[in-house]
Amino acid sequence: MPHRRATFSKFIIENMRRQGGQDADLASLLNDVMTACKLIAAAVSRNPLDTVGPGATVPNVQGEEQKPLDRIANEIMLEACEYGGQLCGMVSEEMEHPARIPDGYPRGRYLLVFDPLDGSSNIDINMTVGTIFSVLRAPVGVTEPTTADFLQPGTAQVAAGYALYGPVSMLVVTLGDGVHGFTLNRDIGAYTLTHPNMKIPPSANEFAINASNARHWEPPVRRYVEECVEGKAGPRGADFNMRWIASMVAEVHRILIRGGLFMYPRDTKDVSRPGRLRLMYEANPMAMLVEQAGGAASTGRLRILGIAPTDIHQRVPVVLGSRDEVERLVNYHAAYDRGEDTRFEAPLFNARSLFRSA
Ligand code: AHG
Ligand code: MN
Ligand code: MN
Repeated sequence: MPHRRATFSKFIIENMRRQGGQDADLASLLNDVMTACKLIAAAVSRNPLDTVGPGATVPNVQGEEQKPLDRIANEIMLEACEYGGQLCGMVSEEMEHPARIPDGYPRGRYLLVFDPLDGSSNIDINMTVGTIFSVLRAPVGVTEPTTADFLQPGTAQVAAGYALYGPVSMLVVTLGDGVHGFTLNRDIGAYTLTHPNMKIPPSANEFAINASNARHWEPPVRRYVEECVEGKAGPRGADFNMRWIASMVAEVHRILIRGGLFMYPRDTKDVSRPGRLRLMYEANPMAMLVEQAGGAASTGRLRILGIAPTDIHQRVPVVLGSRDEVERLVNYHAAYDRGEDTRFEAPLFNARSLFRSA
């Protein structure tokens, strides 16, 4: 019965009670994040094309295209979370420096780090986008956090999650006790629990990567993808499926539902960038969710959650999803780094290439 499903707010309180650690501040912070996600869901569904026009797009702090909805989503999150007294600072993809809590509002014990709109290249084609968030503790005694106060490893996250704005809107969260999915019931205007205790199957025959970067990949990634593409006749002995939505929220959601591997690996396209995705508001929250659901998240060489950040906008390679597939790719990196596997070193058109003829 739909009306018996726990609402997000009720679930959070009961989940904390079960864990024996009720934290009213954290519960109300997550409630404010949820409200922001509802408002962003409404803004995204209103009509993204309304906000497209000459001069509408400007570069953000990362030199990437910032769309009006990126800015609107950022404003919504800041306004929904700054007044409640649970936070002492926020950082997002769209702001170069941490946002101050405006004078007149009390400061709290938590820090919020977020990607207001993930996959925003999908806005103008009416495809799934999302919001990613991560909650950290502020260092004791800090009321005006500096950048350095945010630079905590993913293992320090208190909670993490994403909202997905697709055919239905969803909110998926972890407080370090499993992963739980909620669907926005528009009849009552509330997210209700529809996917308790989500688990990623340990193996799956589906992978996601932007294959247009193939010529820039490192040999272990090339090996993994080529072996998948060889299908039944290749070393994997099975046919694989490929997906690329260009929206990490949508890719991670698919993996939480049916498994698979998502990769945005290190590549040589721009050597000043060790990866495409940002550690603090993309890789870390997703890695926490994926690990909590029984999967794994690595750079190919290191566990993502163990990385000590050096910059709030730092980028990292990301390989996450079904445990066995992540482990396989990590083993391929290790073998290559030990000099034991050089078969995939040759550029694109070698004997084993994806693009070889017959
Ligand atoms: P954002 O829209 O927040 O900048 O993030 C987009 C990210 C991620 O969602 C996706 O996996 C990846 O960038 C897509 O990259 P390509 O454009 O290279 O496909
Ligand atoms: Mn993003
Ligand atoms: Mn974004």
